[in-house]
Amino acid sequence: MKNSTVNECKVIELTQFNNPAGNISIIEEYSSIPFAIERIYYLYDTPCSKSRGGHAHKELSQLILAASGSFNITLNDGTRTKTFFLNNPNQGLLIVPGIWRELRDFSSGSICLVLASHKYDYSDYIRDYQDFITYK
Ligand code: TYD
Repeated sequence: MKNSTVNECKVIELTQFNNPAGNISIIEEYSSIPFAIERIYYLYDTPCSKSRGGHAHKELSQLILAASGSFNITLNDGTRTKTFFLNNPNQGLLIVPGIWRELRDFSSGSICLVLASHKYDYSDYIRDYQDFITYK
């Protein structure tokens, strides 16, 4: 996805049910999000001084949620940059392929939940920013 832009990345409001016993949020493939989920992983115990990400994917789509706590995600398509603050477990940030991302400012106890369209594939990563610019 060499031509993708940060404007295609957006915050998705999930279907939510509330009652006095608490809330439930639902994610269904191909309805809440435009891809099938092949992998789920989550980041936790992330020191607030550390950043994660620092790469782009060629084919992978992702939905990233603050299942608990908060953090910032900065997206970059080689031309434009957009930062999203995630702090609501009922919202997920859709990241299309071909976007550089940096995650930082993790609050204490935060959990960054990632739903991914493909299994882990080392060759799908672009880890060098100059290589990313060349790719785009
Ligand atoms: P990495 O993608 O570099 O984390 P981040 O970009 O968030 O800092 O992953 C860290 C390590 O975990 C790396 O050695 C690869 C491994 N890993 C897997 O084996 N499978 C996975 O699904 C993920 C996300 C990472």
